[in-house]
Amino acid sequence: MNNFLDIKKVSKNSLRKILDDARGRKNKRTNFSTLDPDRDKPLSGKLLVQMYEKTSLRTRISFYLAIRQLGGSTITLRPDEIHLNKNGESISDTAMILSNYADIFMLRTNNENKISEFAKHIKIPIINGLSPLSHPTQILSDIFTIEEIKKKKISSLNISWVGDSNNVLNSLIEASLKFSFVLKIGCPKKYNPPKKIVSWAKKNKGKIFIYNSAKKAVINADVILTDKVISLNDKVNVKKKKSFFKNFKIDNKLIKFAKKNVLILHCLPRGDEISNEIFNGRNSGVWQQASNRIHVQKSILLYCLNKLR
Ligand code: CP
Ligand code: NVA
Repeated sequence: MNNFLDIKKVSKNSLRKILDDARGRKNKRTNFSTLDPDRDKPLSGKLLVQMYEKTSLRTRISFYLAIRQLGGSTITLRPDEIHLNKNGESISDTAMILSNYADIFMLRTNNENKISEFAKHIKIPIINGLSPLSHPTQILSDIFTIEEIKKKKISSLNISWVGDSNNVLNSLIEASLKFSFVLKIGCPKKYNPPKKIVSWAKKNKGKIFIYNSAKKAVINADVILTDKVISLNDKVNVKKKKSFFKNFKIDNKLIKFAKKNVLILHCLPRGDEISNEIFNGRNSGVWQQASNRIHVQKSILLYCLNKLR
């Protein structure tokens, strides 16, 4: 069995295998309805438990569809419905119960340590469905979308990120090393990516460049990704933080510096870091990006249970 906790913890070979499997499965499903299982039903009889300590629309539904299409089932837990946190049941006991009842566990949490604590005690694979420092299922799916739309390997494309330095960007930085692509980051100086991840990337010969200018970051870009300035775990003065980002908005003026057919992605939910015109415009791939979560998560589930083709 394999965990899927951070992009940097999964081998290059496995990441590529997940993407190949997702493409194959997606192509085979053209005539299927949403809930119809894939013909091979590789996870028949398997149960995925999902636990959300933070809100979610896409991750929740796409994991539901993913496991159902693989022939299995899922149950979703909210923290206020179980004893963990509330009545003092420990992570280790919770993990043992999950290990006895289920086949795979997905956790979205506010607390980075909780991911590692569960991973220490649980006997089934665990997937990070978003933590303060990481959003690996999102980024692997975004790489799938980029290669699908651009019809090229991501290593031959100029990738840019404009916006906050957050969990999604951390996973993108890790992916830039695993998939060997150039990543230009545009953010206010105060919101540069954490030193720890930048020095890890540099030490491992990552091709990442940080600019405190949105324009410099997107020159000649094939793809621009962004995310909300205020994340779910952000305990900040919203007005003050947003004021730092006023020159980091994805709009018509900014994308003129990128390639004409630049692809714009946003993992959603969105704030005002992207104009409506761009979000709904011809360069946007946001809806395809959201749907692809289903396909890539199917292959992540298979990877976790050693069932990748
Ligand atoms: N992009 C993403 O993870 O969306 P949700 O928070 O709705 O799951
Ligand atoms: N960075 C965002 C991603 C939401 C999917 C957050 O953590 O809230």
